[in-house]
Amino acid sequence: MLLKPIEQSFKVNYSYSLHFTKGIFSIENTLLKEVISPSDSSKIVKVLFVVDSGLLEANSWLLKQIDAYGEAFKDSLRITDILVCPGGEAAKNDQENVEKILEGIHKNAICRHSFVVIIGGGAVIDMAGYAATIAHRGVRLIRVPTTVLAQNDAAVGVKNGINAFNKKNFIGTFAVPHAIINDIDFLDSLEQRDWIAGVSEALKVALIKDANFYKEIKERAEKLKNRDKDAMLYTIYRCAEMHMEHIAKGGDPFESGSSRPLDFGHWAAHKLEDMTAYSLRHGEAVAKGIALDLSYAYLLSYISEDTWSEVLEVMQKIGFDLSLPIFSQKDLQTLLTGIEEFREHLGGQLTITLIDRIGNKFDVHEIDLQLMEKAVNLLNEKVKIKVV
Ligand SMILES: NC(=O)c1ccc[n+]([C@@H]2O[C@H](COP(=O)([O-])OP(=O)(O)OC[C@H]3O[C@@H](n4cnc5c(N)ncnc54)[C@H](O)[C@@H]3O)[C@@H](O)[C@H]2O)c1
Ligand SMILES: [Zn+2]
Repeated sequence: MLLKPIEQSFKVNYSYSLHFTKGIFSIENTLLKEVISPSDSSKIVKVLFVVDSGLLEANSWLLKQIDAYGEAFKDSLRITDILVCPGGEAAKNDQENVEKILEGIHKNAICRHSFVVIIGGGAVIDMAGYAATIAHRGVRLIRVPTTVLAQNDAAVGVKNGINAFNKKNFIGTFAVPHAIINDIDFLDSLEQRDWIAGVSEALKVALIKDANFYKEIKERAEKLKNRDKDAMLYTIYRCAEMHMEHIAKGGDPFESGSSRPLDFGHWAAHKLEDMTAYSLRHGEAVAKGIALDLSYAYLLSYISEDTWSEVLEVMQKIGFDLSLPIFSQKDLQTLLTGIEEFREHLGGQLTITLIDRIGNKFDVHEIDLQLMEKAVNLLNEKVKIKVV
């Protein structure tokens, strides 16, 4: 008997919100409580918190404040536990951290109607988010990002993951969070390098999509470097908005295709993070990766010398060190393996995003390795001259 294949197709509509606030755990601030358990609900919702240890070191009062918040809103939510996990890339490099979160979800009987609230940098958010999306095939997730990079990029999307086999984000999930809450006050305690690092992701979206946003970043370069909060909040807001718009309207939210424009500059960035044993922050590596791909685009005459120089100067003004840690032919060859690894991670045909003017991206499917080597050397020669 010939059996016809049974075919079905269905559509799922996703929606999620990014909120902006200050003092998220002060008792007067009901935003988190409302997101977890709206006033018109009579249910008491269980919540498991996960907190970044680096954030906690810089804000020792935080756990008490979360407890007090839970007490104040005990008619709406019940805090089952607060788990602290290592901050920074260490969170993503050790699968035991995932196990601990899974165990926490299990022991506290967090169900698909309960919440996991993750507070921390992009690494903790990626790792704990991954755990939350595999437990029970996904429990409700609220992200409270506390670095610039996490507030404008890492936490606002639909990806979660950890590293394995020396490959960034080798294990992970696509899952839409219930909500994200950005509290600008958390940024006060960031080291200067983490204050700056996330600006590279804003420059990235500006360079590929929005010349006006690039101009705004350029005009604010000094302010951004000097920790002007309004300038930073604007940059975060616009960058996050553009990332979310790309996910919702770019036609490929779960990245089934081979093109990933939001990964402009990222093939080198991911490899540099690994080559430096993650002593570089993701955002710092992205700045270097963007500078390299711009140098390559300049060598191919896609962008003018003026444009190339100007963008590098803007990045240096903000405080980025654009030099590449390439000290030997071996380093260079290792860096270049990042191109194939990038292709493998996306799947399909190699697709690298470049720009041919500020605000306009296009894809290439081949990289001339000799020219890329030239770009590495050109960039390293160029950025020895520091902008003051
Ligand atoms: N899922 C995605 O779509 C996506 C996108 C971009 C980046 N990422 C990932 O995000 C990670 C980088 O995130 P990041 O730049 O936030 O760095 P990070 O998470 O490594 O944090 C940097 C350091 O800051 C500390 N910290 C966090 N908040 C703090 C605060 N408010 N005050 C003081 N210290 C604080 C952390 O403990 C850590 O030591 C990378 O793993 C990257 O791959 C993910
Ligand atoms: Zn990035």
